[in-house]
Amino acid sequence: MHFSSSLVGVFSLLCSQAVAIPDLKARDLNSFVTGERTIALQGALNNIGPHGSQVAGAGNFVIASPSTENPNYFYTWTRDSALTMKMIIDEFIFGNTKLQPYIEEYIHAQAILQTVSNPSGTFLPNGLGLGEPKYQPDGTRFNGAWGRPQRDGPALRAIALITYSNWLIENGQSTKARTVIWPIISNDLSYVGQYWNQTGFDLWEEVLGSSFFTIQNQHRSLVQGTQLAKDLRVTCTGCDQAPEILCFLQSFWNGKYIVSNINVNNGRTGLDGNSILGAIATFDIDAYCDSPTFQPCNNKMLSNFRYLMDSFRETYSINAGIPEGQGVAVGRYSEDVYQGGNPWYLITTAAAEYLYDAVAQWKARHNLVVDADSLPFFQDLYPSVTIRQYNSGNANSPFSQIINAVTSYADSFVAIAQKYTPANGSLAEQFNRDTGVPLSARDLTWSYAAFVTLAQRRAGQYPTTWGTRQAASPPATCSGTSTTGVYAPATAAGAPNVTSTCQVNIVFNVNATTYFGENIYVIGNTDDLGAWDINNAVPLGAGGYTSQRPLWSVSTYLNAGETASYKYVRQENCNQPYIYETLNRTLTIPTCGSAPITVEDAWVGAVGTAGSC
Ligand SMILES: *[C@@H]1O[C@H](CO)[C@@H](O)[C@H](O)[C@H]1NC(C)=O
Ligand SMILES: *[C@@H]1O[C@H](CO)[C@@H](O)[C@H](O)[C@H]1NC(C)=O
Ligand SMILES: *[C@@H]1O[C@H](CO)[C@@H](O)[C@H](O)[C@H]1NC(C)=O
Ligand SMILES: *[C@@H]1O[C@H](CO)[C@@H](O)[C@H](O)[C@H]1NC(C)=O
Ligand SMILES: *[C@@H]1O[C@H](CO)[C@@H](O)[C@H](O)[C@H]1NC(C)=O
Repeated sequence: MHFSSSLVGVFSLLCSQAVAIPDLKARDLNSFVTGERTIALQGALNNIGPHGSQVAGAGNFVIASPSTENPNYFYTWTRDSALTMKMIIDEFIFGNTKLQPYIEEYIHAQAILQTVSNPSGTFLPNGLGLGEPKYQPDGTRFNGAWGRPQRDGPALRAIALITYSNWLIENGQSTKARTVIWPIISNDLSYVGQYWNQTGFDLWEEVLGSSFFTIQNQHRSLVQGTQLAKDLRVTCTGCDQAPEILCFLQSFWNGKYIVSNINVNNGRTGLDGNSILGAIATFDIDAYCDSPTFQPCNNKMLSNFRYLMDSFRETYSINAGIPEGQGVAVGRYSEDVYQGGNPWYLITTAAAEYLYDAVAQWKARHNLVVDADSLPFFQDLYPSVTIRQYNSGNANSPFSQIINAVTSYADSFVAIAQKYTPANGSLAEQFNRDTGVPLSARDLTWSYAAFVTLAQRRAGQYPTTWGTRQAASPPATCSGTSTTGVYAPATAAGAPNVTSTCQVNIVFNVNATTYFGENIYVIGNTDDLGAWDINNAVPLGAGGYTSQRPLWSVSTYLNAGETASYKYVRQENCNQPYIYETLNRTLTIPTCGSAPITVEDAWVGAVGTAGSC
């Protein structure tokens, strides 16, 4: 087996840590958090190309996990990348100056990525391609079937880049912020302002609707964008939508908790880690607790927290017997079945981070207000609590005692994370609901990023305000509005000077008799058809397949005026070789502005045979 020198470097790093800290599980909580913070930061950096030791072959991108099968996360997601980079930017601002090259590479790579045409659409003229959730590890398009678009990505990327731009301004580099970075941010904010009122897939890539996490981050991005545009004396197209988004955000509250996905009816309760992740991503140390932005210290959010934690108390057997007011293992939502439906590291640590955030806000406001919504949350932790305002006082004051109780509650979630973290500190995506054994993708970048942000808050490190106090109030009546965006390649940051691509809607219909488990793709010589790369072929759907007509179909967009050659491919059920049609077909795509066309084909070539696996 061949190890590259950089891989040897990582192994020796981990080994030397393993010698210095024989067992992270045996340490006290402070020492665990300190040790794991170092491992987690390095774990995230190991997954960032092109130099990351775990992601050989990747471009300048944050790879979700080195895992290439069951599940294959060897891709770059806009959301995971932006959340990871926000953590890195905050670490940089808190003093880790060695991280700046990662930020600079991110800026360059994202400027290019914005212009990549993909199944969500093209970048020009309408910005549709910005809603694409994931790309190949080298930054090329991913054509496979996926939950798209996902509208949180542009908002999260804008938030990360705005945070860095604010640092540049404070450090005498406004020109760079204006000429190099603002053009990237401007595209993303345009996208938010134009599309916030359309449904998209949630952060778990399963639900097509309106997601609390997405809407909360979209609002933040526009509020922060408004201020940055003022500081740089530029115009923010789309930022005028912020009050309407804030208005819409109010409708996720059902009187007891946050229904994390609305504009969808999927039979779930709506209790979802989505709401906790949204609140920590939009945490503002300066915010008032009754801010309509739904901060961690918000009374409705505390009620939500209690309902959400109770849903997991009842779901996972590793939580059996843990009483109210004690931390539990936390997952995505209790109806989850993905990989067996288990707790996640990043959501368990998010629960702790959430509570540290709330404590920080009460301390900064010098008071906390208990109301009817939050009373049950506080009663679990401090039974004699009543509905009233508690002002800060000495160490024995009720305020201090409540603060201490909430802090202990936060620590108890960290203790759960510690209990299920392997001795070497590696963080996978999930841990088994019955045994606590790590499972699903190993070394998940987001798990590591989430641990670092938790450790920052626990250590009292807070990003500066994003402007909740200055944010415009929501209008009295909400409206579904939109501002048409302005999109241009961020050439100063390295984007290619792409021009508007005119595409025509093409529907491919093919009659192809298949056995259950066999799939059909279309592949061809253009990028939209995968450029003959089977990993990028376009999957067809069998929704219209009947015994009368074995129809496979897909609706797609191809460049106007092009002549494409293409063929259909069969994917067998047990990894047998793909079966290609025995002819090359030709399609001339009509000129710009033409009506959609439907291609009617019938399979030509060998048929498949089911394997036994
Ligand atoms: C760390 O521990 C986990 C779980 O025991 C294991 O799967 C993984 O290979 C270890 N990582 C390293 C780098 O030794
Ligand atoms: C659009 O906004 C209106 C007003 O807030 C809201 O009622 C509606 O549900 C929103 N729809 C989507 C898909 O965001
Ligand atoms: C990009 O191309 C357009 C025309 O296609 C041109 O007007 C513009 O100057 C170019 N920008 C750069 C930075 O080359
Ligand atoms: C025909 O299809 C194959 C892929 O199966 C491709 O490599 C080849 O270039 C195609 N020929 C033409 C003339 O397009
Ligand atoms: C596909 O099957 C339908 C139903 O049998 C038939 O009417 C149609 O002509 C077929 N299409 C082609 C291109 O053979």
